[in-house]
Amino acid sequence: MIFNFFRSRPVATLDLKQINKSFGSAKVLHDIDLAIQDKEFVVFVGPSGCRKSTLLRIIAGLEELTTGQIIIDGQDVSGAHPVERGISMVFQSYALYPHLSVYENIAFPLRVQKVEAAELKRRVERAAGILQLMDKLHLKPGQLSGGQRQRVAIGRSIVRNPKVFLFDEPLSNLDAALRGDMRVELSQLHRELDATMVYVTHDQIEAMTMADRIVVLNGGRVEQFGAPMELYHHPATKFVASFIGQPNMNLIPAIVAGVDAKGVAVEMEGGAKLVLPVDGSNVAQGDTVEVGIRPENVTLSNKGNLDISVRVLERLGGASITYGDIGDNGTRFCASLGGDAHVREGERASLLVSPDDCHVFGADGNVLRRKNAPALVA
Ligand SMILES: Nc1ncnc2c1ncn2[C@@H]1O[C@H](COP(=O)(O)OP(=O)(O)OP(=O)(O)O)[C@@H](O)[C@H]1O
Ligand SMILES: [Mg+2]
Repeated sequence: MIFNFFRSRPVATLDLKQINKSFGSAKVLHDIDLAIQDKEFVVFVGPSGCRKSTLLRIIAGLEELTTGQIIIDGQDVSGAHPVERGISMVFQSYALYPHLSVYENIAFPLRVQKVEAAELKRRVERAAGILQLMDKLHLKPGQLSGGQRQRVAIGRSIVRNPKVFLFDEPLSNLDAALRGDMRVELSQLHRELDATMVYVTHDQIEAMTMADRIVVLNGGRVEQFGAPMELYHHPATKFVASFIGQPNMNLIPAIVAGVDAKGVAVEMEGGAKLVLPVDGSNVAQGDTVEVGIRPENVTLSNKGNLDISVRVLERLGGASITYGDIGDNGTRFCASLGGDAHVREGERASLLVSPDDCHVFGADGNVLRRKNAPALVA
């Protein structure tokens, strides 16, 4: 068909519908509903134990789901064997065969599938070309660096021409510099392969830099699913707010002093009073809330509205990470100020924050919607 002729590979949407998973009486995944688009790079991120791997293994078919559906490219594969799903998974441990050459390691899945010799060679060389392994094909895994070994493992998944690539913390065995390089390489690989990818990590920087959209998982539940900058500017919960962004968002206890059409007036720990342009329909005077302020959203000012006593100063050159206390109850505050900012350890600093840059979280951990926030796109 003409249509198929122009389509170089199948469309690979991935829909997770109401996925639940229990191990015996322990429920580990709760009502996971995600629609991942064709060619999207989606990152599952969350702290250790939040069930990222379990969800990925369910998609791969390595773990059975308890209830729900997995739809790949419009087809229900919930009960299908892993090899019938058109997916390929790369793990943290490379699991290469030490006695086989790089060429044979990459070719391995094609040998199992008894792919014809010329086609096998073509696919291995294409993968090796993309991953810059052409001059390493004759070597054994033991003669490679960690990053090169991980590339071989990725090569082995590329040759299978999967509809969806799954990665489970593939970079966590590498040192920091190599991880940075591989991040760039994986993003480039995604563009070159034009494939749907789901990538698991606990590293929010990997999530922010590589993802088209991020799924933040917490205790087996989806906290939020959105583009990196959407999560950064409009975190739906305190959990997302403190997980995304570096240094972490400050969370300052506050009491609601009043609610009106302009927003919510709060008195923060340390005495600062602000009127914040957020929807106050779920709070009342006297309620306890938390005000979230990103370290990079404050500046030094003699007209400041937030006072801190500076404990520790880290001069990084371009920025001065300033750690201090607000008030007398040990509430910590971190400010990312200019490299030459006039602050000193042991002294007070007056900081200015715009009410538009403040996030407010209710006692349930959910954000109070900002009045000027754009409508969220589902
Ligand atoms: N076979 C099992 N039987 C019982 N509970 C399990 C099983 N597999 C996973 N779990 C539960 O899921 C939790 C960890 O899930 P998972 O490995 O998916 O987390 P993760 O987010 O990938 O963590 P990490 O970042 O450490 O890799 C365990 O703490 C355990 O409670
Ligand atoms: Mg894991």
